[in-house]
Order: sequence, then structure tokens, then C-alpha cells
Amino acid sequence: MNKRPLPSQDAKLPLDASMLDGLPDPVFLVDRKHVIVDYNRAAKQLLGAGALGSRLDETLDSAHIIDAIDATLGGTPGTRREVFLPYPVGRHYELTVWRLPDLKSPGPAWAMVVLQDVTAAKKAARTRADFVANVSHELRSPLSSLLGFIETLRGPARDDPEATERFLEIMDTEARRMTRLINDLLTLSKVETEEHIRPENSVDLGLVLNQVVDILSVRAKERGMEINLELPDEPPPVLGDADELTQVFQNLVANAISYGRARTPIRVAAAPCDRVPGTMQPGVSVAVINQGEGIPADEIPRLTERFYRVDKGRSRSMGGTGLGLAIVKHIIARHRAHLEIKSTPGRETSLTVCLPRADT
Ligand SMILES: Nc1ncnc2c1ncn2[C@@H]1O[C@H](COP(=O)(O)OP(=O)(O)OP(=O)(O)O)[C@@H](O)[C@H]1O
Ligand SMILES: [Mg+2]
Repeated sequence: MNKRPLPSQDAKLPLDASMLDGLPDPVFLVDRKHVIVDYNRAAKQLLGAGALGSRLDETLDSAHIIDAIDATLGGTPGTRREVFLPYPVGRHYELTVWRLPDLKSPGPAWAMVVLQDVTAAKKAARTRADFVANVSHELRSPLSSLLGFIETLRGPARDDPEATERFLEIMDTEARRMTRLINDLLTLSKVETEEHIRPENSVDLGLVLNQVVDILSVRAKERGMEINLELPDEPPPVLGDADELTQVFQNLVANAISYGRARTPIRVAAAPCDRVPGTMQPGVSVAVINQGEGIPADEIPRLTERFYRVDKGRSRSMGGTGLGLAIVKHIIARHRAHLEIKSTPGRETSLTVCLPRADT
């Protein structure tokens, strides 16, 4: 390591930080004047190649780290705390500061600083907490509606058979919504846990798409829509799990029916493509295209988030749980496939899935 002469202490360092070059966490040593006297490779990346020999406050924007160093060198045994470093990219770290040599040794002392990046763990914890809050919220409204109707049926509507029938109908809808939500949550959890296992069956897309169109054409007719399936003469087989792919296209076509303009056609068009984007593998793409209001450009990246809906009221009135595209996203990831969403508001929306071919 190429080191500048160290200004404040020239005693032999108790640790050669380059021995920790293999560690992903930044580790560095500072003296009592906060001068960086040694660092490992990860710390060099974080602090910059010229940081050696300079004071920590010239390279890092964190008074918390300096405080912890002073406390440790002042005699407080090993300090741990969480710090946020806004530069170069905002990240959260678990900071550990240790005195070297230990407190019992007289003479010069250095502080060893270890920064463990906990950004991903923090984000995951936040996502989990948001998810639980969302699920509770989604279950609460049908539940309170059910409780409200039970009370009404026991009280004011007790002798009113007409109202009873109407309320039972609504209760049935709400109970079914909760069942759907729970089923979707279970599906989501299953596809998420299996995401790392790539399915290996050869799937006939023609069969899958024909089946999806059959299942959904009645619902399409109710909105005056027609589903036009465009298949190449001999669609190449794809690598996948037929049930999961059926679920993907059922979700996409159901969305086209729900959010497309009534009395407009829906296209489901399959075609071979050179490469699955992001891979070197040839694929088959399937585009589900509908006309209608579409999706504003800034909302497109959020569409596959759990419970994200562009128009909450509309989705709910269609019986949507807001989990459809989140399930699609995980199935796509499991298949090492690709999903592209394009929308021209007021005109056309297309969701295109590109799946790896099984015959190459
Ligand atoms: N083809 C489309 N055109 C316009 N908006 C769409 C389209 N597909 C999805 N969206 C929007 O994306 C949101 C999320 O879709 P997603 O399928 O995840 O949930 P959902 O349809 O509301 O409920 P679910 O599919 O779970 O029954 C929808 O609420 C809708 O606002
Ligand atoms: Mg949907």
C-alpha cells in the first residue's frame, strides 16, 4: 500500500488493514487527531484513494463517527451505533469503533472503525412493516363492513326480508374479497419462496394462451370486448411452469378487461424474439395490448408493487386486490423472463412478457 508519511503518530500500527482487503465492509484506523492511518480496500473505495494521511472530517460527513471515535479513545469500551452517510450514495451503516491496542496498554492508541452496510436489511424491514400494515388495512374494510351488516341484520333489518337479502348479497361479496386476498397472499408467498428455483418444463404457449382466452372471454363479452389471439404458425416452446404462466397471462388479460375501454378489442400477440432482454437467450414474447385511459408514465415503475393501484376505487369495484402484478413480477423473475410495460395515456397500454425458449 502506498502511504503518505503520517503526521501525528509514527509508532508501529497494531494492525495491517490490508490484511482485511477481502472483507466487504470498510475498516480503517485513525489516530487521536482523527487522521486516517490505514485502511482496507472497501474503506479506500468509500473514503477515496487520497484519504490516507488526511483527517476523517475532510473525507466523511459524519459527526457521529468522530464522536464515537473520541468516546472510544477516551476510554469507553467498544462503541456501536447506526450512522447514515449521505455521500457518495446515501447508505446506512452499523458503526463499530474499537480501541487498538486495548484499554490496558499504555502508550499511543488508535481507533479501528468498522462500517457494516445495513441499507438492504433496513429496506427489507421497512418493506415488511409496510406490507403488514397494507394487509391489515385491506382486511379491515371488508371486515368492518361485515360486522356492520351483522349488527343491522340483528337490529333494524331483523324483520325486513328484502333488506336481509340485499345485505347478505353484500356480505357475500365482502367475504369473497377477503378469500381472494388471502389466496393471493398465499400465492405471492409461494412464488416468492420458490423464486430461486428455475422451472425447467417445456411449455406450449399456444395451449396456455388459448386456455386463458377461453377462461376470460365471457368476462370480456360482459364489457363488450373481444380478445384476439395472434399466434405464430408454430410457436416455439418456452421454458417454464404451465400453471404459473397461465396465472401470468390470466392476470394480464384480466387487467386489460378491467382497465381497458369498454367495447374495444384486446390483442394477445405472441412472436419469437432474438433475446430475452438482459440475457443472451432467444425467447418468445407475448404482448397483451388494450385500449383505454392507460397509465401515467411516472406510475409505471410502481405498478408491480404490492397493493399499488393507479385508481384505487376502480380496482376495488372490479374486485381487485392489487396483488396481481406483484405475483406476475415474481413468476417472471423465477422464469428468468422479462416484463415490459408501455402506455400511451388515453390510447393504448401494452404489457409484454418475454420468455426463454426451451428448444435452444
Ligand atoms: N392494462 C392496464 N391498463 C391500465 N391500468 C392497468 C392495467 N393493468 C394494470 N393497471 C393498473 O395497475 C394496478 C395494479 O394491477 P394489479 O393487477 O396488480 O392489481 P388489481 O388488478 O388492482 O388487482 P388484482 O389483479 O389483484 O385483482 C391496477 O389497479 C391498475 O390501476
Ligand atoms: Mg389485476
